Amino acid sequence: MRVEDLDTPVLTVDLDALEENLDRYQDYYTQHGIGLRPHIKTHKTLAIAHMQMRRGAIGLTCQKLGEAEVMAWGGLGQDLLVPYNILGKQKLDRLVALATQARITVAADSDVTVAGLAAAVKGAGVTVGVIVDVDLGGGRTGVQSPQEAVALGRRIHDAEGLELRGIMAFPTPPAVRGGIQATLAALDKAGLPHPIVSGGSTKSALQAHEIPELTEYRAGEYPVGGAGHLREGRHTVAQCALRVVATVVSRPNDGRAILDCGSKTLSASLVQFDDGPCAGYIVEYPEARLHGFSEEHGHVDVSRCARKPHIGERVQVLPVHPCPCVNEHNELVAIRRGNVEAVWPIYARGKIR
Ligand SMILES: Cc1ncc(COP(=O)(O)O)c(C=O)c1O
Repeated sequence: MRVEDLDTPVLTVDLDALEENLDRYQDYYTQHGIGLRPHIKTHKTLAIAHMQMRRGAIGLTCQKLGEAEVMAWGGLGQDLLVPYNILGKQKLDRLVALATQARITVAADSDVTVAGLAAAVKGAGVTVGVIVDVDLGGGRTGVQSPQEAVALGRRIHDAEGLELRGIMAFPTPPAVRGGIQATLAALDKAGLPHPIVSGGSTKSALQAHEIPELTEYRAGEYPVGGAGHLREGRHTVAQCALRVVATVVSRPNDGRAILDCGSKTLSASLVQFDDGPCAGYIVEYPEARLHGFSEEHGHVDVSRCARKPHIGERVQVLPVHPCPCVNEHNELVAIRRGNVEAVWPIYARGKIR
Protein backbone atom coordinates (compact mmCIF):
# COMPACT_ATOMS: atom_id res chain seq x y z
CA MET A 1 0.00 0.00 0.00
CA ARG A 2 1.19 3.50 -0.80
CA VAL A 3 0.75 6.64 1.31
CA GLU A 4 -1.50 8.00 -1.47
CA ASP A 5 -3.92 5.15 -0.76
CA LEU A 6 -4.51 6.22 2.86
CA ASP A 7 -7.59 8.22 3.69
CA THR A 8 -6.95 11.62 5.30
CA PRO A 9 -6.32 13.09 7.74
CA VAL A 10 -3.80 10.48 8.84
CA LEU A 11 -0.85 10.58 11.22
CA THR A 12 2.30 9.18 9.64
CA VAL A 13 5.93 8.78 10.55
CA ASP A 14 8.69 8.68 7.98
CA LEU A 15 10.88 5.72 8.93
CA ASP A 16 14.09 6.92 7.26
CA ALA A 17 13.86 10.23 9.11
CA LEU A 18 12.86 8.58 12.39
CA GLU A 19 15.77 6.13 12.28
CA GLU A 20 18.25 8.85 11.35
CA ASN A 21 17.13 10.97 14.32
CA LEU A 22 17.26 7.99 16.69
CA ASP A 23 20.79 7.12 15.52
CA ARG A 24 22.05 10.70 15.55
CA TYR A 25 20.98 11.40 19.11
CA GLN A 26 21.96 7.99 20.45
CA ASP A 27 25.42 8.39 18.88
CA TYR A 28 25.81 11.78 20.56
CA TYR A 29 24.96 10.37 24.00
CA THR A 30 27.15 7.31 23.54
CA GLN A 31 30.05 9.53 22.43
CA HIS A 32 29.68 11.72 25.53
CA GLY A 33 29.12 8.88 27.99
CA ILE A 34 25.69 10.16 29.04
CA GLY A 35 22.74 7.78 29.29
CA LEU A 36 19.85 8.56 26.94
CA ARG A 37 16.51 7.89 28.59
CA PRO A 38 14.00 8.82 25.87
CA HIS A 39 10.76 10.42 26.97
CA ILE A 40 7.97 8.36 25.40
CA LYS A 41 5.31 11.01 26.04
CA THR A 42 6.00 12.22 22.49
CA HIS A 43 5.31 9.03 20.52
CA LYS A 44 3.45 6.90 23.11
CA THR A 45 4.19 3.92 20.88
CA LEU A 46 5.76 0.59 21.82
CA ALA A 47 7.43 0.08 18.44
CA ILE A 48 9.40 3.34 18.69
CA ALA A 49 10.28 2.70 22.33
CA HIS A 50 11.68 -0.70 21.34
CA MET A 51 13.72 0.99 18.58
CA GLN A 52 15.13 3.41 21.16
CA MET A 53 16.06 0.63 23.58
CA ARG A 54 17.65 -1.47 20.83
CA ARG A 55 19.86 1.50 19.93
CA GLY A 56 21.25 1.74 23.45
CA ALA A 57 18.85 3.80 25.58
CA ILE A 58 19.42 3.08 29.28
CA GLY A 59 15.70 3.02 30.01
CA LEU A 60 12.59 5.09 29.31
CA THR A 61 10.95 8.17 30.75
CA CYS A 62 7.14 8.25 31.05
CA GLN A 63 5.38 11.38 32.22
CA LYS A 64 2.46 9.52 33.76
CA LEU A 65 2.08 6.19 35.54
CA GLY A 66 -0.36 5.02 32.86
CA GLU A 67 2.32 5.43 30.19
CA ALA A 68 4.75 3.44 32.36
CA GLU A 69 2.17 0.66 32.74
CA VAL A 70 1.84 0.47 28.95
CA MET A 71 5.61 0.32 28.50
CA ALA A 72 5.96 -2.43 31.12
CA TRP A 73 3.11 -4.37 29.49
CA GLY A 74 4.93 -4.02 26.17
CA GLY A 75 8.10 -5.63 27.53
CA LEU A 76 9.93 -2.39 28.28
CA GLY A 77 9.94 -2.32 32.08
CA GLN A 78 13.70 -2.78 32.53
CA ASP A 79 14.24 0.73 33.90
CA LEU A 80 11.42 3.27 33.91
CA LEU A 81 11.53 6.84 35.20
CA VAL A 82 8.33 8.75 35.94
CA PRO A 83 9.55 12.31 36.67
CA TYR A 84 6.32 13.23 38.41
CA ASN A 85 4.90 13.55 41.94
CA ILE A 86 2.72 10.45 42.46
CA LEU A 87 -0.08 11.29 44.88
CA GLY A 88 -3.28 9.61 46.07
CA LYS A 89 -4.22 6.04 46.97
CA GLN A 90 -5.31 5.01 43.48
CA LYS A 91 -1.98 5.88 41.91
CA LEU A 92 0.13 4.69 44.84
CA ASP A 93 -1.55 1.25 44.67
CA ARG A 94 -0.80 1.12 40.94
CA LEU A 95 2.79 2.23 41.54
CA VAL A 96 3.36 -0.58 44.05
CA ALA A 97 1.84 -3.10 41.60
CA LEU A 98 4.04 -1.78 38.79
CA ALA A 99 7.12 -2.01 41.00
CA THR A 100 6.58 -5.78 41.24
CA GLN A 101 7.13 -6.08 37.47
CA ALA A 102 9.39 -3.17 36.57
CA ARG A 103 12.34 -1.24 37.94
CA ILE A 104 10.80 2.11 38.65
CA THR A 105 12.01 5.52 39.75
CA VAL A 106 9.70 8.46 40.44
CA ALA A 107 10.32 12.09 41.31
CA ALA A 108 9.33 14.06 44.40
CA ASP A 109 9.51 17.70 45.40
CA SER A 110 7.63 17.67 48.72
CA ASP A 111 7.32 15.88 52.03
CA VAL A 112 3.71 15.11 51.13
CA THR A 113 4.79 13.10 48.08
CA VAL A 114 7.56 11.30 49.95
CA ALA A 115 5.29 10.46 52.89
CA GLY A 116 2.73 8.97 50.50
CA LEU A 117 5.37 6.92 48.68
CA ALA A 118 6.89 5.71 51.95
CA ALA A 119 3.51 4.63 53.35
CA ALA A 120 2.61 2.83 50.11
CA VAL A 121 5.80 0.77 49.85
CA LYS A 122 6.07 -0.05 53.56
CA GLY A 123 5.68 -3.78 53.98
CA ALA A 124 4.84 -4.23 50.28
CA GLY A 125 8.11 -5.99 49.53
CA VAL A 126 9.02 -3.66 46.69
CA THR A 127 11.64 -0.96 46.19
CA VAL A 128 10.79 2.32 44.50
CA GLY A 129 13.57 4.68 43.49
CA VAL A 130 13.05 8.38 44.07
CA ILE A 131 14.89 11.37 42.64
CA VAL A 132 14.52 14.88 43.99
CA ASP A 133 12.99 17.28 41.47
CA VAL A 134 14.96 20.54 41.59
CA ASP A 135 13.63 23.81 40.11
CA LEU A 136 16.58 25.52 38.43
CA GLY A 137 14.55 28.22 36.75
CA GLY A 138 11.98 26.14 34.86
CA GLY A 139 9.31 27.59 37.12
CA ARG A 140 7.18 24.44 37.32
CA THR A 141 7.74 21.78 39.97
CA GLY A 142 10.88 21.25 42.05
CA VAL A 143 12.46 22.15 45.36
CA GLN A 144 13.66 25.72 45.52
CA SER A 145 17.13 25.41 47.02
CA PRO A 146 20.00 22.96 47.65
CA GLN A 147 19.01 22.99 51.34
CA GLU A 148 15.51 21.81 50.45
CA ALA A 149 16.99 19.14 48.20
CA VAL A 150 19.09 17.86 51.10
CA ALA A 151 16.14 17.84 53.52
CA LEU A 152 13.95 15.93 51.07
CA GLY A 153 16.80 13.64 50.03
CA ARG A 154 17.34 12.73 53.69
CA ARG A 155 13.65 11.79 54.10
CA ILE A 156 13.78 9.58 51.03
CA HIS A 157 17.07 8.00 52.08
CA ASP A 158 15.69 7.17 55.52
CA ALA A 159 12.39 5.68 54.31
CA GLU A 160 12.12 1.90 54.24
CA GLY A 161 11.37 0.67 50.69
CA LEU A 162 12.45 3.93 49.04
CA GLU A 163 15.87 4.37 47.47
CA LEU A 164 17.33 7.84 46.94
CA ARG A 165 18.62 7.75 43.37
CA GLY A 166 19.62 11.38 42.80
CA ILE A 167 18.16 14.51 41.24
CA MET A 168 16.40 15.80 38.14
CA ALA A 169 15.65 19.20 36.64
CA PHE A 170 13.61 20.45 33.70
CA PRO A 171 14.62 22.04 31.43
CA THR A 172 18.41 21.90 31.60
CA PRO A 173 20.09 24.38 29.25
CA PRO A 174 23.84 24.79 29.93
CA ALA A 175 23.06 27.86 32.10
CA VAL A 176 21.65 25.65 34.89
CA ARG A 177 25.02 23.96 35.51
CA GLY A 178 25.76 26.12 38.55
CA GLY A 179 22.47 25.10 40.18
CA ILE A 180 23.21 21.44 39.57
CA GLN A 181 26.70 21.79 41.01
CA ALA A 182 25.40 23.58 44.11
CA THR A 183 22.75 20.90 44.67
CA LEU A 184 25.23 18.04 44.25
CA ALA A 185 27.74 19.72 46.56
CA ALA A 186 25.06 20.05 49.25
CA LEU A 187 24.05 16.38 48.85
CA ASP A 188 27.72 15.32 49.03
CA LYS A 189 28.24 17.33 52.19
CA ALA A 190 25.24 15.60 53.73
CA GLY A 191 26.55 12.19 52.64
CA LEU A 192 23.53 11.54 50.42
CA PRO A 193 23.91 9.47 47.22
CA HIS A 194 23.05 10.79 43.75
CA PRO A 195 23.79 8.11 41.15
CA ILE A 196 21.29 9.77 38.79
CA VAL A 197 21.68 13.38 37.70
CA SER A 198 18.97 13.75 35.09
CA GLY A 199 18.53 16.57 32.59
CA GLY A 200 15.86 16.99 29.96
CA SER A 201 14.32 18.71 26.92
CA THR A 202 15.07 18.34 23.22
CA LYS A 203 15.93 22.04 22.91
CA SER A 204 19.23 21.58 24.75
CA ALA A 205 19.61 17.84 24.13
CA LEU A 206 22.80 18.21 22.09
CA GLN A 207 24.33 20.53 24.68
CA ALA A 208 24.03 18.01 27.50
CA HIS A 209 27.83 17.53 27.50
CA GLU A 210 28.20 21.14 28.63
CA ILE A 211 26.90 19.95 32.00
CA PRO A 212 29.38 17.13 32.71
CA GLU A 213 27.58 16.36 35.97
CA LEU A 214 24.61 14.91 34.03
CA THR A 215 24.55 11.13 34.09
CA GLU A 216 21.46 10.84 31.91
CA TYR A 217 19.10 12.81 29.72
CA ARG A 218 15.34 12.80 29.03
CA ALA A 219 14.55 13.89 25.48
CA GLY A 220 11.11 13.41 23.98
CA GLU A 221 10.66 15.17 20.67
CA TYR A 222 14.05 14.43 19.08
CA PRO A 223 12.85 11.36 17.09
CA VAL A 224 10.23 13.35 15.18
CA GLY A 225 11.06 17.08 15.33
CA GLY A 226 8.19 19.41 14.45
CA ALA A 227 7.50 22.91 13.13
CA GLY A 228 9.10 24.55 16.20
CA HIS A 229 12.32 22.54 15.91
CA LEU A 230 12.39 23.29 12.20
CA ARG A 231 12.00 27.01 12.83
CA GLU A 232 14.81 26.97 15.40
CA GLY A 233 17.16 24.92 13.20
CA ARG A 234 17.32 21.72 15.24
CA HIS A 235 15.64 19.60 12.57
CA THR A 236 15.51 20.02 8.79
CA VAL A 237 12.26 19.40 6.93
CA ALA A 238 13.60 15.97 5.97
CA GLN A 239 14.34 15.20 9.64
CA CYS A 240 10.80 16.10 10.76
CA ALA A 241 9.48 12.56 10.74
CA LEU A 242 5.96 13.10 12.10
CA ARG A 243 3.61 14.24 9.35
CA VAL A 244 -0.13 14.60 9.17
CA VAL A 245 -1.27 13.92 5.62
CA ALA A 246 -4.27 16.16 4.99
CA THR A 247 -6.56 17.15 2.11
CA VAL A 248 -7.46 20.67 0.98
CA VAL A 249 -11.25 20.64 1.34
CA SER A 250 -12.03 24.26 0.51
CA ARG A 251 -10.52 27.33 -1.15
CA PRO A 252 -13.14 29.97 -0.25
CA ASN A 253 -11.06 32.79 -1.72
CA ASP A 254 -7.67 33.42 -3.28
CA GLY A 255 -5.86 33.83 0.02
CA ARG A 256 -7.43 31.02 2.05
CA ALA A 257 -7.17 27.25 2.02
CA ILE A 258 -8.94 24.95 4.45
CA LEU A 259 -7.53 21.52 5.36
CA ASP A 260 -9.36 18.51 6.80
CA CYS A 261 -7.11 18.57 9.88
CA GLY A 262 -8.22 20.77 12.77
CA SER A 263 -7.57 20.70 16.50
CA LYS A 264 -8.91 17.13 16.76
CA THR A 265 -6.11 16.03 14.41
CA LEU A 266 -3.23 18.41 15.14
CA SER A 267 -4.17 19.21 18.77
CA ALA A 268 -4.98 22.73 19.91
CA SER A 269 -1.31 23.74 20.13
CA LEU A 270 -0.64 27.11 18.59
CA VAL A 271 2.82 28.63 18.96
CA GLN A 272 3.44 32.36 18.53
CA PHE A 273 6.27 32.98 16.10
CA ASP A 274 7.54 36.41 15.00
CA ASP A 275 5.19 36.36 12.02
CA GLY A 276 2.14 35.23 13.99
CA PRO A 277 0.52 32.08 15.36
CA CYS A 278 1.58 28.71 13.92
CA ALA A 279 -0.22 25.36 14.18
CA GLY A 280 2.03 23.56 11.72
CA TYR A 281 4.25 23.77 8.66
CA ILE A 282 3.02 22.63 5.25
CA VAL A 283 5.86 20.84 3.48
CA GLU A 284 4.64 21.47 -0.08
CA TYR A 285 3.85 25.15 0.59
CA PRO A 286 6.57 26.69 2.78
CA GLU A 287 5.15 30.21 2.30
CA ALA A 288 1.69 29.15 3.52
CA ARG A 289 0.76 29.90 7.13
CA LEU A 290 -1.32 27.35 9.01
CA HIS A 291 -2.35 29.94 11.57
CA GLY A 292 -5.43 28.49 13.21
CA PHE A 293 -8.05 25.80 13.30
CA SER A 294 -11.50 24.79 14.27
CA GLU A 295 -12.14 21.24 15.44
CA GLU A 296 -12.04 19.64 11.99
CA HIS A 297 -10.67 22.44 9.82
CA GLY A 298 -7.13 23.76 9.47
CA HIS A 299 -7.08 27.43 8.48
CA VAL A 300 -4.29 28.33 6.06
CA ASP A 301 -3.28 31.71 4.69
CA VAL A 302 -1.94 31.04 1.19
CA SER A 303 -1.80 34.68 0.09
CA ARG A 304 2.02 34.60 0.00
CA CYS A 305 2.22 31.41 -2.08
CA ALA A 306 3.20 31.91 -5.74
CA ARG A 307 1.58 28.56 -6.55
CA LYS A 308 -1.60 27.78 -4.61
CA PRO A 309 -3.08 24.45 -3.56
CA HIS A 310 -6.24 23.25 -5.23
CA ILE A 311 -9.29 21.57 -3.75
CA GLY A 312 -8.69 17.85 -3.33
CA GLU A 313 -4.89 18.21 -3.20
CA ARG A 314 -3.06 16.38 -0.41
CA VAL A 315 -0.40 18.04 1.71
CA GLN A 316 1.91 17.01 4.54
CA VAL A 317 1.69 19.02 7.76
CA LEU A 318 4.46 19.06 10.38
CA PRO A 319 2.64 19.71 13.67
CA VAL A 320 4.02 22.52 15.79
CA HIS A 321 3.83 20.33 18.91
CA PRO A 322 4.13 16.62 18.18
CA CYS A 323 3.26 15.28 21.66
CA PRO A 324 -0.38 16.43 21.95
CA CYS A 325 -0.87 15.76 18.23
CA VAL A 326 0.05 12.08 18.69
CA ASN A 327 -2.29 11.96 21.69
CA GLU A 328 -5.22 12.69 19.35
CA HIS A 329 -4.66 9.50 17.32
CA ASN A 330 -5.23 5.77 17.66
CA GLU A 331 -2.63 4.75 15.10
CA LEU A 332 0.63 5.89 13.62
CA VAL A 333 1.27 4.78 10.04
CA ALA A 334 4.95 4.05 9.38
CA ILE A 335 6.03 5.01 5.86
CA ARG A 336 9.24 4.32 3.98
CA ARG A 337 9.74 6.02 0.62
CA GLY A 338 6.01 6.26 0.14
CA ASN A 339 5.25 2.65 1.10
CA VAL A 340 3.23 1.76 4.20
CA GLU A 341 5.46 -0.57 6.24
CA ALA A 342 3.43 -0.80 9.46
CA VAL A 343 0.47 0.58 11.35
CA TRP A 344 1.39 1.02 15.01
CA PRO A 345 -1.28 1.31 17.72
CA ILE A 346 -0.60 4.30 19.97
CA TYR A 347 -1.25 2.30 23.12
CA ALA A 348 -0.26 5.04 25.58
CA ARG A 349 -2.61 7.55 23.96
CA GLY A 350 -4.80 9.25 26.54
CA LYS A 351 -2.88 7.85 29.51
CA ILE A 352 -3.15 11.01 31.55
CA ARG A 353 -3.42 9.31 34.96
C1 LIG B 1 10.07 16.31 32.99
C2 LIG B 1 10.34 16.34 31.53
N1 LIG B 1 11.46 15.80 31.04
C3 LIG B 1 11.74 15.78 29.73
C4 LIG B 1 10.86 16.34 28.81
C5 LIG B 1 11.19 16.22 27.34
O1 LIG B 1 11.27 17.43 26.70
P1 LIG B 1 11.15 17.53 25.09
O2 LIG B 1 9.74 17.21 24.79
O3 LIG B 1 11.54 18.91 24.81
O4 LIG B 1 12.10 16.55 24.52
C6 LIG B 1 9.70 16.95 29.27
C7 LIG B 1 8.76 17.59 28.34
O5 LIG B 1 7.78 18.17 28.66
C8 LIG B 1 9.42 16.95 30.66
O6 LIG B 1 8.30 17.51 31.15
